[in-house]
Amino acid sequence: MTEFSEIVQELDTGLSSTPKKLSSKYFYDDKGSMIFQEIMAMPEYYLTRKEHEILIEQSGDIYAQLDVKGTLDVIELGAGDGSKTKILLKQFMDLGAELRYIPLDISQEALNELKGIVGAALPDLDIRPLAGDYFKVLNEIEKSDRNRLFLFLGSNIGNFIPPSNEEFIRFIAKYMRSGDRLLIGVDLVKDPRVILRAYDDSQGITRRFNLNLLKRLNREAGTDFDLKLWDFYCQYNPLNGEVRSFLISKDDQVVYSSVINKSYTIAKHEVIWTELSKKYQIKEIEALGKSAGLTSIQHFTDKAGYFSDSLFKK
Ligand code: AVI
Repeated sequence: MTEFSEIVQELDTGLSSTPKKLSSKYFYDDKGSMIFQEIMAMPEYYLTRKEHEILIEQSGDIYAQLDVKGTLDVIELGAGDGSKTKILLKQFMDLGAELRYIPLDISQEALNELKGIVGAALPDLDIRPLAGDYFKVLNEIEKSDRNRLFLFLGSNIGNFIPPSNEEFIRFIAKYMRSGDRLLIGVDLVKDPRVILRAYDDSQGITRRFNLNLLKRLNREAGTDFDLKLWDFYCQYNPLNGEVRSFLISKDDQVVYSSVINKSYTIAKHEVIWTELSKKYQIKEIEALGKSAGLTSIQHFTDKAGYFSDSLFKK
């Protein structure tokens, strides 16, 4: 399989396993990223607004907890377009912070866009984007004795299937020096109905987001998924805080990939598990940090207690 691209390998492994699964990391082609923007604008999708509220109202308190003397490097993993982060950076600068902002992303194009947005809002900010795989680019960050804050916002940690959530925090922690801080955005457990509505939305936008993955596979893995034969279903389990999303086959079918030259048999009602969006209890967030050797400093939550930007120290 090694001669195939990552997404083709994902297709083959995912459709050959029981239950069938495909990683949500492949949702984000150009079209998928646009649909995700629509999701973030939905009234039911509270996550983005709640984190926004925290950053607007509490960035000053977050800064105070960093206890920074001198300069500060803010290193962001998965920065998106930077529109949330610029709120935090602006408040830090207003408080006199001497900042360097180092956004990391796999896509150079996304980083160019981010540099435009953040640079226009904060012309005095020193922005040093690094493009590439986190595993590689974290090594490229210049060794210096500046204070450092790592950011992993937006509930992205919720999409990591345990134990890869712990592994990822451990991976970041490995690059942190004693005294460095990490701020992680985490969606909290709450009324199960509120959570379910954010994913099982009435306009069917999340459904389109999931089905777009099949369109992407048709394009990039040469499959012949017939979208009419697939339904979207998601469930929230309050016992473990997990929202799980699925594509469900409406009929017995055979999907063929011309790239691999292989067919996959799928039964009526069989599922492809596409995404985990885990909701955390505060004690679970603390355990996550602890498993990576980090000490919890403070959980900055919105007024409704829906979301937390949790600050850790190494
Ligand atoms: C990117 N991630 C945090 C989103 C989430 O809430 O799990 C992705 C998403 N999936 C469906 N709606 C939003």
